[in-house]
Amino acid sequence: MSLLNLKKSILLVSISLYGFLVYSQTQPQRNEGVIADKAMVVSARVEASQIGTNIMKQGGNAFDAMVATELALAVCYPFAGNIGGGGFMVFRLKDGVKGSLDYREKAPLAAYRDMYLDADQNVIPDKSLLGANAVGVPGTIAGIFEVYEKFGSLPFATLIQPAIDLARKGYILTENDIKSFNWNREKFRKANDYTIPFDAELKAGDTLKLPEMASTLERIRDKGRSEFYGGMTGKLMLDYLQKLGGIMTIADLEKYKAVWREPITFSYKNFQITSMNLPSSGGICMGQIMKSIEPYKIQKYKPNSQKYIQLIVEAERRAYADRAYFLGDADFVNVPVNKLIDKNYLKQRMSDFSWKKATLSSAVSHGNVEIVESNETTHYSIIDPFGNAVSVTTTLNGAYGSKVYVPEAGFFLNNEMDDFSIKPGTPNLFGLVGAEANAVAPEKRMLSSMSPTIVEENGKLKMVLGSPGGSTIITSVLQNIINVIEYNMTMQESVNQPRFHHQWLPDEVTLEPNVFDDKSVSKLKKKGYKISEKQSVILGKVDAILVKKDGKLEGGADPRGNDAAVGF
Ligand code: GLY
Repeated sequence: MSLLNLKKSILLVSISLYGFLVYSQTQPQRNEGVIADKAMVVSARVEASQIGTNIMKQGGNAFDAMVATELALAVCYPFAGNIGGGGFMVFRLKDGVKGSLDYREKAPLAAYRDMYLDADQNVIPDKSLLGANAVGVPGTIAGIFEVYEKFGSLPFATLIQPAIDLARKGYILTENDIKSFNWNREKFRKANDYTIPFDAELKAGDTLKLPEMASTLERIRDKGRSEFYGGMTGKLMLDYLQKLGGIMTIADLEKYKAVWREPITFSYKNFQITSMNLPSSGGICMGQIMKSIEPYKIQKYKPNSQKYIQLIVEAERRAYADRAYFLGDADFVNVPVNKLIDKNYLKQRMSDFSWKKATLSSAVSHGNVEIVESNETTHYSIIDPFGNAVSVTTTLNGAYGSKVYVPEAGFFLNNEMDDFSIKPGTPNLFGLVGAEANAVAPEKRMLSSMSPTIVEENGKLKMVLGSPGGSTIITSVLQNIINVIEYNMTMQESVNQPRFHHQWLPDEVTLEPNVFDDKSVSKLKKKGYKISEKQSVILGKVDAILVKKDGKLEGGADPRGNDAAVGF
């Protein structure tokens, strides 16, 4: 059996067992993930989780581990781990202080509103997705240096060296890696003018060495942040982008800054949920959905039953309609954040919800808020022995981003420009329809759905979680919060649960295939919900840590991938 099929079987078995385990009064044992006494990393690759954990064993804190984990993922998870992309970090210090770092990519200075449209105002196929014009100014290296300078405790060389060694000595390819390389092979060839290492004849079990990436990381170790934003690495990147017709220049690299931002915190019953604020829609959208369902007694409904799905879908429909209209980079547009997560506004928004039948998305526009002025990413969660927590989602946007792989420097560049509304009203890679607030402009950050999240219960750290999955990130994260805080699932049970998603447009409920109860699905259909159960769909890949009642940590590593929890 292939690893993927094995994982799928484990998922299906754990899902079907779940109903029994949770609802049987006599059930003796819970399906728990990896348990650790004081520190843990959960990420998309065991190598990265191990590297981050080792840093904490050497006395490093969660921020040191973040730097090491992020760089390790850039080596062994090129699908989404990166130095040519960007991300967001939400943190909670041991004393309860919370904050967030935005190292999201930016539009180059030469970018303009209609750059992806032809003379007839039609979208030029693939221009925002594949190749040099899809690339936003990368933020990851600025992000890790910002984190290191503010919170790092071990020497930077100690934090970067494991990733250098991993690139130099190589990592073992999984079946998922090979499938994904094969799947993207054509695009690797279209985007590049040479054969990239992932286009070689490779099979599962082979060791893949990335010497160019190792040298790039060594230069960054020795020369620091400026190596990427002006040194030889920056030059290699710009030369290649310009050769391929891209618009990024040295001025873009020199101007790039990661920004510390206030995260968004909202309450749900006696829980405080902190997630990423703009330019991510994650925190606002999740806040809208959770506050919309808060007045309902959700525990009356079994998880993933028809009523449970219906309630959450209707809240999602309304929140994503608002997302499409109101949200964009708050450095460029005014967004009425507080109003959008106000409980009275959300009560009014849900006032036309009826249990009898589906609301049509065509009947749901954005809410009436007065503006005063004007699925591929990766997540990792860390808790350190000192009690600090770090939640990070980082991305190239699509798988391997723009597929542009910088020669002699050995890394992929993002295709984050597709997260702008390239033509208001036209869906992006994830089918999300956007409006003016998220139109392209020079130096603007494109709207994201990434939702690195931290949950507290009565002010105490409870969960660290997040997910990849573009627009499905928000709904995946919130379903996991609800699984744990409303249904008392273990972290692993929660992560294993089937997931569903609705995003206003297209007007359909996406279900992970063949894992939802037929009765619930047919009841939903009878009420007018259009159901989509495409075979290939994976909704999120949640990597999470739960602080158990006894203070131990439980990792929830998503069986939908090669994800792994490592702790001590
Ligand atoms: N590129 C996926 C996101 O930022 O949401």
